[in-house]
Amino acid sequence: MSKNLKDQVLSRRTFAIISHPDAGKTTLTEKLLLFGGAIRDAGTVKGKKTGKYATSDWMEIEKQRGISVTSSVMQFDYNGARVNILDTPGHQDFSEDTYRTLTAVDSAVMIIDSAKGIEAQTLKLFKVCRMRGIPIFTFINKLDRQGKTPLELLAELEEVMGIESYPMNWPIGMGKEFLGIYDRFNNRIEQFRVEEDERFISLNDEGEIAGAHNLKESGLYEQTLEEIMLLNEAGNEFSRERIRDGELTPVFFGSALTNFGVQTFLESYLQFAPSPQPRNSTEGEIDPLSEDFSGFIFKIQANMNPAHRDRIAFLRICSGKFERGMNVNVPRLSKQIKLAQSTQFMADDRSTVDEAVSGDIIGIYDPGTYQIGDTLTVGKNNFQYERLPQFTPELFMRVTAKNVMKQKHFHKGIGQLVQEGAIQLFKTVKTDEYLLGAVGQLQFEVFEHRMKNEYNTEVFMERLGSKITRWVEKEEINENLSSSRSLLVKDRYDKYVFLFENDFALRWFQEKNPDVALYNPMDTQ
Ligand code: G4P
Repeated sequence: MSKNLKDQVLSRRTFAIISHPDAGKTTLTEKLLLFGGAIRDAGTVKGKKTGKYATSDWMEIEKQRGISVTSSVMQFDYNGARVNILDTPGHQDFSEDTYRTLTAVDSAVMIIDSAKGIEAQTLKLFKVCRMRGIPIFTFINKLDRQGKTPLELLAELEEVMGIESYPMNWPIGMGKEFLGIYDRFNNRIEQFRVEEDERFISLNDEGEIAGAHNLKESGLYEQTLEEIMLLNEAGNEFSRERIRDGELTPVFFGSALTNFGVQTFLESYLQFAPSPQPRNSTEGEIDPLSEDFSGFIFKIQANMNPAHRDRIAFLRICSGKFERGMNVNVPRLSKQIKLAQSTQFMADDRSTVDEAVSGDIIGIYDPGTYQIGDTLTVGKNNFQYERLPQFTPELFMRVTAKNVMKQKHFHKGIGQLVQEGAIQLFKTVKTDEYLLGAVGQLQFEVFEHRMKNEYNTEVFMERLGSKITRWVEKEEINENLSSSRSLLVKDRYDKYVFLFENDFALRWFQEKNPDVALYNPMDTQ
């Protein structure tokens, strides 16, 4: 690989932010984008109420509900690094989308609200990162408000999440008494609400302020020094390798809203976060520095811009270089495709991208060809990247078009939304009825809303409630085994699936039909 290309790849940092809603993800993202010069206005996060929206909130429904539904991608340059941020929906009903996004990153930033500590959704997403061995950087936010003590927060990280931590900095007071952070890593103190030229105080070799300074008068400073001593003696050691392996999380304290500690965080993050990592494929690990282009599609979104009525596949480049107009293989289809239309993302601002390298996320125009999880390769390469995680839906609805004259729109809409991975589709075996499967209720609401707004089709949805979903191992099965308590359906790949009314129905079925092997895809990935 040429030196130039290698340098480009090594300069990439691609991450997702994981957090519970309201922890400050949108605020932090915006501040990072401001540092990168990617946006000029802080479009402030308050926007949710005043009518302005964060740059990463795309769709109408997000505005109405004030939640992020889809993951968006943002890119900026900082200190010679090119940063790709993948936004993820915070709401748990959209976990599928978030989990798929996490397959496309090399690290994750976890935001914790200092008053709330570790919340349910953060824990769930953390576990996914852990399972995938993704390095995690922790930003403890809202230090300008009274919250839990830093020692309590660290203990929570270790006890609830089971991850060791290394505080890169440490707060001096908090809330009304927040004075700043003791920056262990840069051996300095950064003062809160102090002008730029006086904000930083260098520390001597003993880690203390040399000479006179009014901060020394404060009991909070004394307390911080004591805690730092404790950390130095009893805390974990800093280890770049263990950060890379996802075993140790560097912890940063700050306040995104007041833009405090964000730049320090960004600079350390860029220093320690991994550049694009190798990925597993059917032919073993693919080196991100290999010359041959390859990548995989982790998200498809139709009608990103309603004026264009288009469809974009989000591609994570995993090796080599993308050049507009290049021919690629889609091994699943045994087909070659010319990538003529491609875009780079800055939320809903899109610009044509001519070149991109491993680590970058680009959007490619999708005439309906791609599926989530598709691999793209070049030349003789025909490998496929690891399958994306498949979710087992738990909630079901029967769906029909309200207006029978609109069948064409109805089928097109369902087809596209299913291919996007917004919802799963099943058909009953005997009656060919359409059933929608979801992990969270809101997915149905988004579906209904989008069918109406994007495909001009009103749908009728009948609640079937929650089911236990199990796929059938074999290709063939006696369709007469279907009953109201163990409904037999087919998924969109024509695989047989049983929807059991409850645990009891599942066990009863297994006892009666020991020869029908069933599985839950989430147990095997
Ligand atoms: P999210 O994307 O993770 O859901 O969170 P978002 O950034 O929207 O932030 C949620 C709320 O927390 C916002 O208040 C935001 O201003 C506030 N916030 C974010 N960072 C900080 C911080 O460092 N300090 C303080 N004090 N507040 C912060 P909001 O829009 O007024 O909503 P709400 O507070 O009524 O929920």
